[in-house]
Amino acid sequence: MKILGIETSCDETAVCIIEAEGKQIKILGNQLYSQIALHTQYGGVFPMMAKREHQANLTPLFEKVLEESNLLVYSSPYTVDSNKDSSQSTIDNLLSTILNREPELLEQLANLLKKIERPNIDAIAVTNGPGLEPALWVGVNFAKALSTIWNIPVIPTNHMEGHIVAAGLQQVDSDKYIVDSKNQNYQTIYSLRSTIYPSLALLVSGGHTQLVLIKDFQNYEVIGNTKDDAIGEAFDKVARILGLPYPGGPQISRLAEKERLEFPNKKTSYPLPRPMIHSGDLNFSFSGIKTAVLYMVKKIANLTDAIKQEIACEFENAVVEVIVKKTRQAIEENNIQTLIIGGGVSANKKIRQDFTKLAEELGVTIMIPELSASTDNALMIAVAGYLQISSTSRHSRTDGSPDFRAEGNLSL
Ligand code: KG4
Ligand code: ZN
Repeated sequence: MKILGIETSCDETAVCIIEAEGKQIKILGNQLYSQIALHTQYGGVFPMMAKREHQANLTPLFEKVLEESNLLVYSSPYTVDSNKDSSQSTIDNLLSTILNREPELLEQLANLLKKIERPNIDAIAVTNGPGLEPALWVGVNFAKALSTIWNIPVIPTNHMEGHIVAAGLQQVDSDKYIVDSKNQNYQTIYSLRSTIYPSLALLVSGGHTQLVLIKDFQNYEVIGNTKDDAIGEAFDKVARILGLPYPGGPQISRLAEKERLEFPNKKTSYPLPRPMIHSGDLNFSFSGIKTAVLYMVKKIANLTDAIKQEIACEFENAVVEVIVKKTRQAIEENNIQTLIIGGGVSANKKIRQDFTKLAEELGVTIMIPELSASTDNALMIAVAGYLQISSTSRHSRTDGSPDFRAEGNLSL
């Protein structure tokens, strides 16, 4: 079956079409527009600005994905269709009801829908939370509009479940799949790895730091959570304090790696706390360490690049030590068989290395998404939607009707 995935929860507008069968996922089209360059100028993401950008970019991205997927068919202007005028005004009426809060999107989508045929898509999966609510609504209303006009079922999809399923995608040897031998075009094909339960997901992103016990397919229990800032937020805020651009995670990580290479055995001159490392529970707190960095930096008269690099390294060491310790505890307490790491911060090199080591030591299978699927994307949403549809689990949440809301605080 063919599934369209749509993601607009934060600062990436992303659209993907997959063809899925059993455990095989073929990417037909995959497009992403990152707003990072825009938000960098302001040092962070402003929800209303993100919303405007999603509105402007979603329709062109969707058209591109249809084209890439060979599903874009322009209606012939010569087709004699006596119902055409009435059907177009029906489209206008329906769209203006669904998209009345997204005027720019409304205009672009109405124009596109008037000139193309209904594509052969079986279902639409759209992120309806968690995330920035104004941003989420753009994707949700876009998906509802397509669903209503083309009569395609639509599945509200949890962004965090998307990050979990992204970890299970394993690329199949691409040499075998040249689809267009003349241009040597390779098609990306993934297989979905099997998970042995109970499994544990550590979700680390700009909005979340959670340990999730997965007792069975789609049966989630959050057993550890941050009490304040998310880990990605801490990376971003510390980067800002050090004068590094948004998003700070990759910047901190780059400096930290350089520091470790240049001074492998150095004892830091800028020690930071390991927040809640001895709390005994599985919760986190990352707001204090950010404040500690702020006070430390205020006392430094000349914040050189060398000092920034040393602080970045110590910060990364501190937060990774805490998440490794808590994850170890959660694995031991719950007889975990599979460890899943998901969310944008899982792109971090040290996290990848340290958790791979931890999994080896404890004898559990580890799943980490490939780099391109670590940060926000629409592939993970399409796959999460596919799993909802194909599952008979009592936990799946779909009847295909466009009767749902965007929910900024949606939980797993
Ligand atoms: O999952 P994601 O793309 O968006 C949210 O759902 O929040 O995660 C974005 C977060 C940002 O805070 C970003 O700084 C962080 O992931 N991030 C990283 C790295 N790459 C992205 N943090 C640490 N190291 C990285 N290499
Ligand atoms: Zn995310």
